[in-house]
Amino acid sequence: MLIVQTIAALRQHLAAFHRPAFVPTMGNLHEGHLALVQRACVLGDVTVASLFVNRLQFLPHEDFDTYPRTPQEDYEALEREGCDVVFAPAEAELYPVPQTYKVHPPAALADILEGHFRPGFFVGVSTVLLKLFGIVRPAVAVFGDKDYQQLLVVRQLVAQFALPIDVVGHPTVRSKDGLALSSRNRYLDAAERVEAVQLSQTLRTMAQALRDGAQDVPSLETQATQAMQARGWSVDYLCIRRSADLQEPTPQDLATPIAADRLIVLGAARLGRTRLIDNLLVGELGGCAEAP
Ligand code: PAF
Repeated sequence: MLIVQTIAALRQHLAAFHRPAFVPTMGNLHEGHLALVQRACVLGDVTVASLFVNRLQFLPHEDFDTYPRTPQEDYEALEREGCDVVFAPAEAELYPVPQTYKVHPPAALADILEGHFRPGFFVGVSTVLLKLFGIVRPAVAVFGDKDYQQLLVVRQLVAQFALPIDVVGHPTVRSKDGLALSSRNRYLDAAERVEAVQLSQTLRTMAQALRDGAQDVPSLETQATQAMQARGWSVDYLCIRRSADLQEPTPQDLATPIAADRLIVLGAARLGRTRLIDNLLVGELGGCAEAP
């Protein structure tokens, strides 16, 4: 496996390939990331992963400085998965001058949910991805369904800029108890780790209620929020949305169980100092990849 730090070295190496498959990451890899790499390995003629903690997508009070950075472990894990090339640029390589040109995704998608609670987050994500796409020039890029809103933002970015990239979403990988894998899970202490499963369980309860014909979305959201708050969580949102565009469902979207299958339940909540996010497509109740 080749590890490169510069754009020039990466381009030179990739010139020999026709169909790079790309997995952008911020490192501190877990089984969820590695599942994306495995998927990429069967989609392209060379698999490229990037490791870059992107300052642009962190708010000033967020954990940019303390975000876990574990490059050696990441390289070993990527090599074991069969990754061919790792692009691990220094900040000065990707941002040699202040990044004054930025991508502002549409507010209707990017200023809600995560974008509401983390203003500018999707500007940072879209900007670094447009840049990484220009550097790697992948034919296919693989993203986790866990960051569902990010996946929709990336799909629209690629569509509206007519980038020749297939964006592939991969199912969320979960621990045996249902907790979605995340680099931030390592912030949880032992008691919080046990409690953390409540987020996915709450999403599941909400999704099941929709499947069973419940149509009062505000009361489902309020009940779920109050139940989580009573357990000590600080809830940013527990929401039912349309999976296609993350807008609030109309009465027609809720009219039948088949229509409800096109909904998604999304949550973000803080347990102690750890902010967790997760989501569940109502139509995929019961289906999820499990970490070994
Ligand atoms: O999902 C992530 O890890 C990041 O948002 C990404 C896509 C690597 C951009 O920095």
